[in-house]
Formats: sequence, C-alpha cells, structure tokens
Amino acid sequence: MAEYDDPYAVSGQFIDIMIAGWWEHFGAAVAEAVRAMPADEAPLLDAGAGGGWGTRLLATAHPTARVVAVEPSPVLRAVLLSRIAADDDLRSRVTVDGDDLLSARLPDRLAGVVAANLIGHFSPEERGRLWGDLAGRLVPGGSVLVNLAPPLEPARVERAQMSRVEVGTRTYLGWAEAEPAGEQRITWHMTYEVHEGDRLLTRDEVHYGWWTLTEQQLVAETATHGLATLLHGPTESGLYTVTPKD
Ligand SMILES: C[S@@+](CC[C@H](N)C(=O)[O-])C[C@H]1O[C@@H](n2cnc3c(N)ncnc32)[C@H](O)[C@@H]1O
Repeated sequence: MAEYDDPYAVSGQFIDIMIAGWWEHFGAAVAEAVRAMPADEAPLLDAGAGGGWGTRLLATAHPTARVVAVEPSPVLRAVLLSRIAADDDLRSRVTVDGDDLLSARLPDRLAGVVAANLIGHFSPEERGRLWGDLAGRLVPGGSVLVNLAPPLEPARVERAQMSRVEVGTRTYLGWAEAEPAGEQRITWHMTYEVHEGDRLLTRDEVHYGWWTLTEQQLVAETATHGLATLLHGPTESGLYTVTPKD
C-alpha cells in the first residue's frame, strides 16, 4: 500500500456511531439506487467503507452478491472487519481491502459502487483518475452512487453540533466547523468529546482537508470519462448516480 496519512487515526473510534444519523436519513435513497445495480453480472464495491454501513446495505439489497469493501484507515477497518467476520453471511461474501481506493485491488468488472461521504478526500486530479478507472470497470447498467456534502464551494461553516450518541452511561458529542483553505478546498475542524453526566472525560480535536465539488463540476468531470451524472433522491441528500453513457 502507498504511504497513507490517515485523517481518521483519532476520530475513527467515533465515526461509525456518529455517521449512523446520515444513514438513517438517506439509507432508503441509497438502497433504492443500489437495488438497480445489476449485481448478477459482477461484484459490488463499497468505496471508503468506514465501519460498513454501505457494505451491509449492499449485501442486504443483493443477498447473493459478492461485495468488496475498501477501507484504508486501520481503526475504521477494524470496525468493518469485525462486523463482517461476526456475521456468517457477510463473512462468506464480503472481501475487505485495506488500500486507498486508487491503489486497491479491485475486481475487473463492477456492477455498482457506493461512495458515501467520501469524494471530498480526492483532489480534482485524483477524481479524474478515479472516474477513468471506474468507467472502465462498470458493466452496462452499473452505476456509482456518490454524495456531495456541503459546502459545495469554499466557505466558512460555523461551529455546530453534528452528533450526540448515548452509549451506556456515556454521551459522545461531535462538533464540526470549517474554513476556506484555497481553491476548491476547505479545512474541517472537528471536536469529539466523551461525557459522563456533567463531567467531560475526553476531548479530541481533529483537523483535515476536504476538496469541495459542485454539481456542475461533478457532471462535467464525469462526462469527460463517458459517464452521465443525475441527482438521485431528495435534493438535500446530495446523492448522484454516475452511469456509463449508452
Ligand atoms: C466520512 S467517512 C465515511 C465512511 C462510510 N462511507 C460511511 O458513509 O459510513 C470517509 C471514509 O473514506 C475513507 N477514505 C478516505 N480517503 C480514502 C481513499 N483515498 N481511499 C479509500 N477510502 C478513503 C476514510 O478512511 C473513511 O472511512
């Protein structure tokens, strides 16, 4: 695996429980797009799988399909691999790859890809390589499901609580704020806290870069690789299907 600087080395312990709300809101829209993927033809891919919300959704929607889940962050991959190994059905059908997406060993053909809450990790140049690579692997009727998370252009995002999860006697809180950091670039500043009653037990501050991308840019850059991009589901989901043009 190429050198990988993991933005989730600290926050990875909280991501799976804190991203659950996104999947509760938009999981049905994701599932609708996933059901249309021709999984009899080729394996499915969960790109940047995190703890495996998308992986499980793919496997549930297509109960006999092979699934590849790519996750380069060791801490998130531990969550993912444990989930897969604990379930006999998933264990027999899901392969976990620990490379970053651009150097992962992907199947030659893919029936569909879920790339949820991921695309901002890729620079314009990396996205170009990614679309070119996926365009060459998708079977006819296959698609990539991707979401664009705001802000779609560099802008300041005021600090706001993004998540609150109760587990046992503890409360897990996450805050996010962002600032512009160049052309098509922002820096996210995240705070993760663990509380017990009134007592703050731990606080972790995490900062990482994120590439912004508008719908127009996504449509244009995918078209360069013979791919058509369409809004999927409710506008606020920011979900798009990317499919080979006929
Ligand atoms: C915000 S998390 C989303 C996880 C999961 N897709 C979900 O929605 O629950 C972003 C994920 O992208 C992964 N990621 C970041 N850069 C990546 C890369 N170059 N290749 C593959 N995955 C990457 C991270 O390790 C992390 O698991």
